[in-house]
Formats: sequence, C-alpha cells, structure tokens
Amino acid sequence: MLAGKRILLIIGGGIAAFKVPQLIRLLRAEGAAVTPVMTAGAGEFVTPLTISALAGEKVYTDLFDLTNEAEMGHIQLSRVADLVVVAPATADLMAKMAGGLAGDLASTLLLATDTPVLLAPAMNVRMWLNPATQRNLAALKGDGVLFTGPDDGDMACGEHGPGRMSEPEVIMQAIRDHLGQGPLTGKKVLVTSGPTHEPIDPVRYIANRSSGAQGTEVARALVRLGAEVTFVTGPADVPPPDGVILRRVETAQQMLDAVEAALPVDAAVFAAAVADWRVASASGSKIKKQNGALPVLEFAENPDILASISQLSDGRPPLVVGFAAETDEVIAHATAKRQRKGCDWILANDVSPETGIMGGTENAVTLISDEGAESWPRMGKRDVARRLAAKIAETLTK
Ligand code: CTP
Repeated sequence: MLAGKRILLIIGGGIAAFKVPQLIRLLRAEGAAVTPVMTAGAGEFVTPLTISALAGEKVYTDLFDLTNEAEMGHIQLSRVADLVVVAPATADLMAKMAGGLAGDLASTLLLATDTPVLLAPAMNVRMWLNPATQRNLAALKGDGVLFTGPDDGDMACGEHGPGRMSEPEVIMQAIRDHLGQGPLTGKKVLVTSGPTHEPIDPVRYIANRSSGAQGTEVARALVRLGAEVTFVTGPADVPPPDGVILRRVETAQQMLDAVEAALPVDAAVFAAAVADWRVASASGSKIKKQNGALPVLEFAENPDILASISQLSDGRPPLVVGFAAETDEVIAHATAKRQRKGCDWILANDVSPETGIMGGTENAVTLISDEGAESWPRMGKRDVARRLAAKIAETLTK
C-alpha cells in the first residue's frame, strides 16, 4: 500500500526506540523505502546495525560526517522523502523543532525539510504534561506538524499516564492516512470555526455559545481526504485538528483579515459563529462602576465574512459553503440567507436550545443548494463533517 513511498525515519533517544525495528519491518512489508536517521541518544537504546539491517539502507547519524555530505548533503537528505516520521519524538526533539534549533543532524533535517512531518511523541508523563512541552506541542501543531499519540498507560519508568509512544501499527495507520492519495490531494480549502470575541474593554468581551466542534470536524474530515486546509478559528472550546495551517483570531475583523490572507483556495467553508456586532468604541481601559450610572454600549456591525468572500469579483473560491444557525423557520430563513449572501451551499441547522446542537456533539442539517434542499438525518458532528467533505470532494473533482 505504501509502494513507491519513501519515509525519512528520525529515531530519537528514548526507551520507546525499542519499538522502531517493528515499525521499520511494517513499513518495508508494505513496500515503503526507509531512510533512517538516529540521534546520538537513540544509539543508546537500539544499535545502528539493527536499524540499517532492517531498513536495508545506511543509517545517518552525524551532521559533520563529510562522507555523507559528499554522498548527499543534509538539505538534500531532508527532501528525499514523501513523509518525515519522528519516532520516538522526545521532549528534547520537540523543543528543538519548536525553537527552530539545528545543532545536530536530526534537528537540522527537521528545520530544512519541506516535507510533511509526523511525530510519535514518547516521554515520561511529567515531561509530557510540563507546560514547556505543551507549549511546544501547540506551536508545532500550529505549524502544521502531524501527531500520533502519545497513548495513556504504564510507562517503562514505572509511572502511569499520557506519554507512551503509539504502537507501531497505529503509527503505520497515521502514515497511511497521510500518504494515501485522497480525492482532495492538491486542493486548498479554507475553514472558519469557533465563536468570535468582541472586546468591550481590555477584560470584558461579547461572545456566543459556539464550541467550534462542527468547524473542527469539517477541517479534520477535509485533511483526511488529502486537502491542504487553512483553519481560521476564534477562541473555541475544542482543540484544533492536526495537520492544518492554523490561524488563531479573536474578533470578526481579524477573522476576515486571516481569511483574505489565505486566498486563493479551491473551496471555503464558513462554520464560524461570527459576532454580528462589535462594540463601536471599545474602551482602552477597564470601565469602572460610576455611582449607579450604567454604561451604555453602542454597537457597530461587523463585516459579513461569508457574504464578502461569496461576492468577490476577483478570486472568489469556486465553491463557497456557509452554515445557517436558525431557531425558527429554519429552511425558509436559510434559503433566503443563501440568496442574500451569495454562497453556493448553505447547511441549515436548528440551534434552538432544546435541540442541544449548539455546544453539543450532534447536528441535524439540511443542505441547501441550487438543486434544492436535502435533509440529512441527525448524526454526530463528525459524520456531518465527513458527509460534507465527501460532497466537496465530489464537486471539486467533477
Ligand atoms: N457569517 C460570517 N460573517 C458574519 C456573520 C456570519 O461569515 N459576520 C457566516 C457564518 O460563518 C455562517 C453564515 O454566515 O456560515 C451564517 O451565519 P448566521 O449566524 O446563521 O447568520 P447571520 O449572518 O448572523 O444572520 P442572522 O443573525 O440574521 O441569522
């Protein structure tokens, strides 16, 4: 299944390196070629001889190995693969990557590569939960680095919790997911998600109950089909998906700017619950109580991001999809909204409190397009997202 694919496998210095020989066997069994690179620490856990025997290739270890440089420079080495896999990805390697360090061969390759990178972290639970590692994790995810694991469980050091490296079979699946040529491979898709926060003053803001769950699932489903996804998100409750180009914003205006900067794209899905209004003159300092006099907030209308992108005369994405959050006359309102905003499809949903949809795990949508209204049964937000992503793929590849 991975025939013709090459993996640059960077082996970090952790006890989980003992699982790497099995990973190499699985890769080879599926027809992938493996170029192994070991850090100095990795050699303490597994020998270069074992690795090169299983990979059937030379093991690269040293940045200053001139023979290697003559054979293949480190820049070239960083580009030979279809995917760079780091297993185990230690706290040290993650920190080096997040900081852009290049003090040894492994970190230099990771800094120089223009190939997607998949990390399988493995470390002690305290090291994993340490704020420094969590910061590095967030930064790397924001850079579009892919992750598998770590798993929860008993660790070689005797502690219990997250930090165990994913099993080789699980890493294989992550590799297949990424390298499998999906129908959206080569297509760029933009997704907006989450609520926006509109400041009243430096400590207060106006928000809404959107969790970002639906937009996050849409982005995840599109990545699964191979799309390059730019994910523009307001302050959501759920973490962003892996493998996207992440743009975090707070306000509607910032969201519009980030969306415009991401164009051109083949399709755009606007799942964000954008605040319709902002406070016209947000105060630069905290508004104080004034002897019972109540503050008066004046509002200004926010830009309508979906409408402005749908109505672009130059650079309009070929497919623009909106959502319509309604509480009554759902289909009639959504149909009118589609006309008014000028998008191609609108997914209408009933967000009345009794449906439990806003902030919940399920959704019941009706897809409104030129071809009329198509009601989907109530299902998990992930399933709604997968159905939508499949329909987008079908349309873009027609
Ligand atoms: N939307 C947007 N920018 C805005 C408001 C909404 O891009 N300023 C997008 C949403 O992401 C969604 C669609 O427009 O895809 C409809 O959002 P919704 O809240 O249902 O509609 P509104 O335009 O806010 O209309 P109303 O509040 O009158 O129902």
